[in-house]
Amino acid sequence: MDENLPLNEYVNHHKGSYDQFYKESLENPEKFWQEHSKIIDWYRNFDQVLDQSSAPFYRWFTNGKLNVSYNALDRHVKSFRRNKAAIIWVGEDGREKIVTYHGLLKRVNAFAKALIDSGIRKGDRVAIYLPMVIETPVVMLACARIGAVFTVIFSGFGASAIAERINDCGAKVVITADGGRRNGKIIPLKNIVDEALEDTKTVETVIVLKNTQNEVDMVEGRDFWYHEVASDERALVEPERMDSNDPLFILYTSGTTGKPKGVVHGNGGYSVWVSNTLKWAFDPKEDDRWWCAADIGWITGHSYIVFAPLLLGLTSIMYEGSITYPGPDRMWQIVEKYGVNILYTSPTAIRMLMRYGDSYPKKYDLSSLRILGSVGEPINPAAWHWFYSVIGSDRCPIIDTYWQTETGGFIISPSANLGIGPLKPGSATFPMPGIAPVILDENGNECKENEKGYICIQRPWPGMMLTLNGDDERYVKVYFSRFPGRYFNGDFAMKDKDGYYWLLGRSDEVIKVSGHRLGTIEIEDALVSFPEISEAAVISKPDNVKGEAIISFVIPKRGITPDRHLSERIKKEVRERLGPIIVPEEIHFVESLPKTRSGKIMRRVLKAVYLNQIPGDLTTLENEASVEDIKNAIEMLKKEKI
Ligand code: WT7
Repeated sequence: MDENLPLNEYVNHHKGSYDQFYKESLENPEKFWQEHSKIIDWYRNFDQVLDQSSAPFYRWFTNGKLNVSYNALDRHVKSFRRNKAAIIWVGEDGREKIVTYHGLLKRVNAFAKALIDSGIRKGDRVAIYLPMVIETPVVMLACARIGAVFTVIFSGFGASAIAERINDCGAKVVITADGGRRNGKIIPLKNIVDEALEDTKTVETVIVLKNTQNEVDMVEGRDFWYHEVASDERALVEPERMDSNDPLFILYTSGTTGKPKGVVHGNGGYSVWVSNTLKWAFDPKEDDRWWCAADIGWITGHSYIVFAPLLLGLTSIMYEGSITYPGPDRMWQIVEKYGVNILYTSPTAIRMLMRYGDSYPKKYDLSSLRILGSVGEPINPAAWHWFYSVIGSDRCPIIDTYWQTETGGFIISPSANLGIGPLKPGSATFPMPGIAPVILDENGNECKENEKGYICIQRPWPGMMLTLNGDDERYVKVYFSRFPGRYFNGDFAMKDKDGYYWLLGRSDEVIKVSGHRLGTIEIEDALVSFPEISEAAVISKPDNVKGEAIISFVIPKRGITPDRHLSERIKKEVRERLGPIIVPEEIHFVESLPKTRSGKIMRRVLKAVYLNQIPGDLTTLENEASVEDIKNAIEMLKKEKI
């Protein structure tokens, strides 16, 4: 763990300047953020850097007025960046589109007008269910331009996940496509939307992008073609003057209980945060080609494919499909062809590509790469070393960025721009400026060196969410009640003797499958909604590529004799309703589940049993548990029928 890698001239030359910078950010936050908020052009200066009067509803840059699309587009169009590539889009089939800042602004204006023509105004909710096409950032920026609050629904989600999100935010319009491409297949997005809309009441308009030419049904008066409504190439839509704390978007993410949480991000704090963090962590240069290989359906895509790079006037590469389609060299081929300088991906992707061996990357010239990045889950040292040596030729620092949907942008990460010390594989290193982490034990006392505890953040930062959509109470309960006054995010971590942070996975019942965040409760809800099932419990098992894989235990209803057909049907229906990432890898039919006396399923015990780490004394595992009940359940579990 303490191994120091060969010092890399890029990362090492000025660690001291990071220390100084970080210190200033905490010692004089007013001055610090006054200065760094200038990364954004404001129509009206804010009155106060931070208003803590209704904590934990912290409000940054109060009464400041800005427009995110103006900052991402218009101001660059007025500068030397007018004809610079804003987005280089690469299709799964190799097609490409290079859109300049000027071109992107035209498209955004045309779509902003289409939204206005459909009756959408500031504060209205817009659902976006689009694949990874150029129109996705266009629609997001068009919403930002007119002040409509958008929610992007990952195009891998199914109909009931869409309906749930539309109902929670009250979307008036849905933007979708006839189809989306992934792994050489076409996903019928519009048909899925049609199904979802059977369970919603608020949607008045559906705008459909012609993307794959597959057949769709258009509902008269409700459904319109994108190319028809957004045909005015000369449209000019004045950017709305948004308040710093007006919502910009809602993004749903999984939690430990109940339905997904609608994380609300604002205009001012969020844009100041994402642009500064990208600059600090990755030190992008004016002529760089930045490739964040995430999906726009997740926060990584929002913050670091769309907003931060465009706010900074960079060239952002956007790839349509699967990084292993048509072959395992797809990523390396794109790096070579487009001369990617900074490549930001996930541990899952790295592990997957690593499995195919070195011969694929070795076929390509990867010398344009200067910096590499990772996000989504802790990166295991084997994957780190492969990325560092085989992809980066021992030249490129690995920026392991730790953050969450709720944090808006990076919170712990090496800072290539500010200077960092030697990297330690698997450690996200040090906090971003303005972030004051602390690791606490069960009782809220600070942990010692190398002691594992709950990571919390002691002060607000500009990128933090405003609230959870329509549920202020849940916001306070989930994030600020476990350790009052501190932001608690559900992760385990520890700090070593040199002050490096090590993220050690979730402390709650959230699991990460290929970096996707899933609540065990959501999967269980999906399983118990089958008429054949009375109870369900979900755990994860370690997976060499995906990080974790979903394992489920279900109790069939009386009179039901479970068989393979039933488990196959469950998997198929879950896939259709909620999307492929939520489908359990294994479904075990059992007669009983280990529970506490108060009836809570003990997933930890289930997991220990499943992984053959049978706990000796169960009383130590859960005080309130009925040991006999658990032992019985374990016996039953072992006698499982299929
Ligand atoms: C959870 C947040 C952040 C954008 C993508 C995921 C885990 C994320 C790291 C990292 C260790 C990480 C945490 C966190 N996580 N990045 N570099 N090292 N763990 O966003 O879906 O909101 O998930 O992902 O457990 O809480 P998300």
